[in-house]
Formats: sequence, C-alpha cells, structure tokens
Amino acid sequence: MTDSASSPTTTAVTLDTRGRPLRDLRISVTDRCNFRCVYCMPRDTFGPDHAFLPRQEILTFEEIARLAGLFTRLGVTKVRLTGGEPLVRRDLETLVAMLRSNPAITDLTLTTNGSLLARHARTLAGAGLSRVTISLDALDDPTFGRMNDARFPVAQVMEGMRAAEGAGLGPIKVNMVVKRGWNEAAVLPMARHFRWSDQSVRFIEYMDVGHSNGWRLDDVVPASEILAMISAEFPLEPMAPTERGEVARRYRYTDGAGEIGLIASVTQPFCGDCVRARISADGKLFTCLFAVAGHDLRSLVRSDASDEEIEARLRRVWNLRDDRYSELRSAETVGLPKVEMSYIGG
Ligand code: GTP
Ligand code: 5AD
Ligand code: SF4
Ligand code: SF4
Repeated sequence: MTDSASSPTTTAVTLDTRGRPLRDLRISVTDRCNFRCVYCMPRDTFGPDHAFLPRQEILTFEEIARLAGLFTRLGVTKVRLTGGEPLVRRDLETLVAMLRSNPAITDLTLTTNGSLLARHARTLAGAGLSRVTISLDALDDPTFGRMNDARFPVAQVMEGMRAAEGAGLGPIKVNMVVKRGWNEAAVLPMARHFRWSDQSVRFIEYMDVGHSNGWRLDDVVPASEILAMISAEFPLEPMAPTERGEVARRYRYTDGAGEIGLIASVTQPFCGDCVRARISADGKLFTCLFAVAGHDLRSLVRSDASDEEIEARLRRVWNLRDDRYSELRSAETVGLPKVEMSYIGG
C-alpha cells in the first residue's frame, strides 16, 4: 500500500463548477465481457475482430489502488468496480482486498452480469467486498437470450445471485435495462418475482451511451410508463432519497412487499446531484458517462510524479468539471462520438 492510501485524511472537499462534490468513483477493470447486450456491446460492433485493450495498456491492481487512495483525499468514500464484466479479470479479489485496506472507502461494490458469480462470490466476500449489483433484463430465456445475445440462461445468473446472498453480499440490487419492443413485457414478471425478497429491482431507461448501439428516443420506455405498468397491479408510493447523488428514484409497495427503483436518466436527468467520476480500464478519468474524451492518468502513474502532484491534477480536473450531458441531451449531443459503456463502466 502506498502512502497515499494509508495516510491519515488530508481530505479537503473539492467541488466542481456546479458545486458538486466527488463521492463516488467507478473503476472499470476490463473492457471485455462474455455477454453482448444489445444496448451495450452489440455484436456487429463487438464481433470477433474487435480490438480490445492490450494487457500492457490496462492499469495494474497496484496502479488502481494508488489512484483510488488519491481519490479518497478528494472526498471519495464509495468505490464501484465495473467493466465490461469485472469478473472476467483474473484475481479480482486481490484488488478488492487492496481497496478494502483503505479505511476511507466505506462502500466497496461491484456491478456484474452475474454469470461468473457463483464461482467467485465467496472469495470476493472474503476479500472485503461490501455488496453486488447484478444486471438481469428478463426472467425468461428467450427474452434474456435476445438481450444478452450470448445465449446465457437466466438460471446461471440466478445461481450467481444465490451464491452472492449466501456469501453475505446482499441485499442485492438488480439492474434491468428496458428497451422498447425487446423486453418491456418482462417488466411485470420481474416486479412480481422480486416482490417479498430482499433484492430490489431498478428499472433503467435505455440510454444513448457510446455510439454503436443505434439508440433512438423511440426505444426508450419512460420510467413513468414503467411505474404506471407496475402500480396498476401493485400500488406503489414514493420514498424519500437517502443520499445526495442517488440515481434511482425509489418506490415502495404499499402492501409492504419491498421496493423498486426507477433510473430515469433520459426523461428525468439527475446531473444536478452527480457526484460520480469514472476511470476506464486503461486509466483515463472521465467526469461524465457521456464524455467524448478522458484525462490520461496512466501516464501520470507510470511517470515519476509524486502522490501530491497526481492529487493536485485530480483536484484541478474536478474543479473544472462542468458536465451535465443528460440535461443537455439534444439532437446535437446524441450524434457525438462518445465512449462506450463497456469501456468506461456502467
Ligand atoms: P448504488 O449505490 O448501489 O445505489 O449504486 P448506483 O445507484 O450508483 O447504481 P448503479 O451503479 O447500479 O447504476 C445503475 C445504472 O444507473 C447504471 O448502470 C447506469 O445505467 C445508470 N447510471 C449510473 N450512474 C449514472 C450517471 O452518472 N449518469 C447517468 N446518466 N446514468 C447513470
Ligand atoms: N442504457 C442504460 N443502461 C446501460 N447499461 C449498459 N448500457 C446501458 C444503456 N445503453 C448498464 C446496465 C448494466 C450496467 C453495467 O450498465 O444497467 O447493468
Ligand atoms: Fe456486458 Fe454488462 Fe455491457 Fe451487458 S451491459 S454487454 S453484461 S458490460
Ligand atoms: Fe453525471 Fe454525466 Fe450522468 Fe449527468 S449525464 S448524471 S453529469 S454522468
């Protein structure tokens, strides 16, 4: 562990140009995935010829842990590991243990498609992972198979979910991206299935991340429609947000069967409270999910720059941040050559 990660808090809160602090760091550990979700890694772009990042361009666990330690000096307390699919990176539990040893990181989580979780849940929990979020877009194999385009069966994800719960990684959040004409019929079955369980489903509006998924506004099922669909069968009432920067609007079933979340980044953007930064697998810092370019941190960590110099650079980037893409989304911004979600992380 470097000095940066273990030194007592020298934290001075850093705000961006819109007064937003930095709390939540999302780290992509690989740009690879064993799924080809239609909204994220469509097979015609991410086919056999697709050039993924070469190994030497990917940050090592030591580099990631050092950077994460420096980010905690700026106020980060929450770290989420993402991908691609983070569990295709070998020995991920080693990174989890390195991050866990930093006391400033109070919430250490992972977003996964669940397919490899049955194998890894116990070691991840043992290494100190706090919890997991699992993506699942339908409960029936024909629909799920069309969405993941890799013939992965629902049962395998369910097995991963059970293993995660058994290992103490619950309560689990389940992410379902809803795409018009593809899986909207799976919304009610998902709501029914996860009622009365510890897991809460978050229904996500299909977003125009990247530039290869062929996004059109017509493909988006607005959160208001999802809410109407579910509450017609099971009445829901809104819940108060628990923390600043929460992306999901939460609703509880009035009969006590638990809660759901709606992530409406297209129809009800939440940029005003956005406290998130992202590091891609090759060490670029992105201050918005929809950014066109990132700040190169890899050459900085591979140079002889001191912790203080890197920290100062991170502060400068955050101080100058002005992003609010979802609030500005328009014909002009939709066509931009934005980076892919599988590269920048979910
Ligand atoms: P929890 O702390 O577990 O609640 O995590 P979270 O609320 O940050 O949720 P998660 O990381 O699972 O994000 C869920 C989904 O929300 C992502 O997969 C994205 O689709 C969307 N999302 C997350 N962060 C952002 C963001 O900064 N901007 C936009 N536009 N969408 C986001
Ligand atoms: N729109 C909304 N969410 C997306 N994700 C990936 N691509 C998109 C998109 N186009 C989210 C999914 C998944 C996480 C890794 O990224 O929620 O759970
Ligand atoms: Fe893979 Fe997740 Fe993207 Fe699906 S959404 S292709 S599981 S990274
Ligand atoms: Fe944050 Fe950018 Fe998403 Fe807005 S669009 S919430 S600024 S990541």
